[in-house]
Amino acid sequence: MVSDEAQQQELIASCKHTKECSDRNACDVELLSVGGFSPLTGFMNRDVYEHVVKNMRLPSSNLIFGLPVVMDTNEDGVKEGERVLLTYKGQKLGVLEVESKWAPNKPLETKECYLSSSLEHPGVQMVAMERGKYYLGGKLWGFERPKRVFPCATPLEVRAMLPAKQDVVVFQCRNPVHRAHYELFTRALHAPNVRPGAVCLVHPTCGPTQDDDIPGIVRYHTYEVLKAELQNPAIKWAYLPYSMHMAGPREAIQHMLIRKNYGCTHFIVGRDMAGSKSCLSGEDFYGIYDAQNFAKQHAEELGMQTVPSADVVYTEEQGYVTVDVAKKEGLHVKKLSGTKFRQMLRSGEDIPEWFAFKSVVKVLREHTARAQ
Ligand code: ADX
Repeated sequence: MVSDEAQQQELIASCKHTKECSDRNACDVELLSVGGFSPLTGFMNRDVYEHVVKNMRLPSSNLIFGLPVVMDTNEDGVKEGERVLLTYKGQKLGVLEVESKWAPNKPLETKECYLSSSLEHPGVQMVAMERGKYYLGGKLWGFERPKRVFPCATPLEVRAMLPAKQDVVVFQCRNPVHRAHYELFTRALHAPNVRPGAVCLVHPTCGPTQDDDIPGIVRYHTYEVLKAELQNPAIKWAYLPYSMHMAGPREAIQHMLIRKNYGCTHFIVGRDMAGSKSCLSGEDFYGIYDAQNFAKQHAEELGMQTVPSADVVYTEEQGYVTVDVAKKEGLHVKKLSGTKFRQMLRSGEDIPEWFAFKSVVKVLREHTARAQ
């Protein structure tokens, strides 16, 4: 980050171009500026991008990196060696020095990173249809962070909120916190590989996500009411300016390395993390534990541990248990799909409290009413 006004002015004066960032670009610029994507200090250049796509590693250090971080554009005029002023909704976020510009092989990128190049995959659609035809890589100077309704604490600020010597178990989510999620992160504090006295950081992504998810801004209000309701000193809250890719296993790696930068030691990963379904057939792109297994496989090298969980389900007899326990003991499982939940929200039908917190449902209802 460059805070010196004169230096900012000098950098701005050296720019040949201006680019208005998309919501996704703005998340990437912010994460690069605050160190969330450390060790990256700018957008990936072509060689780094190609290496990450193929090997999931940065080329010279060989450090694991889950997904490419690139600036996209349709501008033919921008050339290597030139500087671009990055703006966002009236703000000047920073300056990018274009060290490399190329037309990416998007089918290859998506095949390697998303394990699919089908447009039925929402992440592939984003790469193919939302992003421009060129990628720009290069050094970034950050000026200011995007002004958001939900403030996103920086890695420095989050680390300052966390106890220095205790385990920090992080819960990533892109959905409102429902009862199953709550079970997951409260139980995680007592997982066998977590030391007593640990805290849990609930760290939802509030940037863009797939279309049928609940928007980050609405979820932010649900998290705030829940935080106030729970009042649990072992549960900390912060928001992450990250745009979801729905890339399953490789996205799990991306989330872990980001959370390591925010000072976390353990990563909760349940069923079908960052997963997605075909927009045509509704079929899942990844196996239920693919992301979890992949995260476990790379955890040691990332210097983190996973806190894995099997699929948890609600049973009439014992409340939330893992699906294998429910099966073994012949318990009666109650289910409510995301689609059904959204339908019930719209129709005003009562949503059972075993599924969702009343306070969260109230916020979601208010939003649904406003959107209709
Ligand atoms: S995700 O994109 O980060 O997967 P989501 O909000 O759906 O977002 O889930 C947050 C975390 O909770 C993920 O680790 C996911 O695997 C886990 N999870 C969600 N529901 C369940 C469940 N019923 N059983 C086990 N894990 C779950």
